[in-house]
Amino acid sequence: MDNIHIDEDRVAREKEAWNAGIDRERLEKILARSAEIWSGDVDKIIQNAFSPYENGSFLEIGSASWASWIHRLKTPAGSVHCINISEAELEHGRDMAKGTEVKPEFHIMDAHQLNFPDASFDAVFGKAILHHLDYAVALDEIERVMKPGGVMVFMEPLDMNPVGWIVRAATPDMRTPDEIPMRLRHLKLFEERFETAFHPVEMASLPLGILGGILGAKPDGFFERFVRRLDRRLVKIPGLRLCARSTMIVGRKPRDDS
Ligand SMILES: C[S@@+](CC[C@H](N)C(=O)[O-])C[C@H]1O[C@@H](n2cnc3c(N)ncnc32)[C@H](O)[C@@H]1O
Repeated sequence: MDNIHIDEDRVAREKEAWNAGIDRERLEKILARSAEIWSGDVDKIIQNAFSPYENGSFLEIGSASWASWIHRLKTPAGSVHCINISEAELEHGRDMAKGTEVKPEFHIMDAHQLNFPDASFDAVFGKAILHHLDYAVALDEIERVMKPGGVMVFMEPLDMNPVGWIVRAATPDMRTPDEIPMRLRHLKLFEERFETAFHPVEMASLPLGILGGILGAKPDGFFERFVRRLDRRLVKIPGLRLCARSTMIVGRKPRDDS
């Protein structure tokens, strides 16, 4: 770690912004219908990725997604650790854990310098967090703390979706100055470190899900089922697939002998 450059000013800006509070509830409400169209597929990706690690050690980069990915999905994790740079965000995680059987251990920690020994975790995961970090430094740390044969699962926004551009431009108060949705060059950073699979999600479902919500389409009714089928085809088209709103990323750390 000695010769790694960590942009401490950037980390301090993120910490300050999240401690001051960024209210994402309104935005998440607007986008909920689009996300719902893909939620079954997303759950399956997470379950498939985590299933070989029963009773394993899990680390969330962030402190909120465990409630869905571990607690709601009943992932049989042996231990769960969560880290966040923001006290307020970590407190939010602690509050959620008051009502759940899963009791993660919460740590204030910078994701660019994880205070865990090498090869500590079977699985490392997070949602909408890597794009707040220096990707290369954070991925090096994630790789370091993963056991050989371990898995990482992240869901991150892509920077190539035109509706995503509009949403971001319309919601500057819900952004931090340093966040960078993933571009092609970032995808390569994963492939350099892990055996990686990208699963893009939400394409036509982003505008159509919002429209369906406005028009009062029934959740999982004919319209949404049609949009889901359409999207599943769209995300398979090479060249177009990275225009999705987000991508799931599943990466495996090769075993020493492979
Ligand atoms: C968009 S939020 C996502 C949070 C969470 N995954 C969720 O789904 O609500 C981004 C998170 O990144 C955290 N963060 C930003 N920079 C960080 C860093 N250097 N180390 C650890 N956490 C950081 C923020 O405090 C915030 O909780």
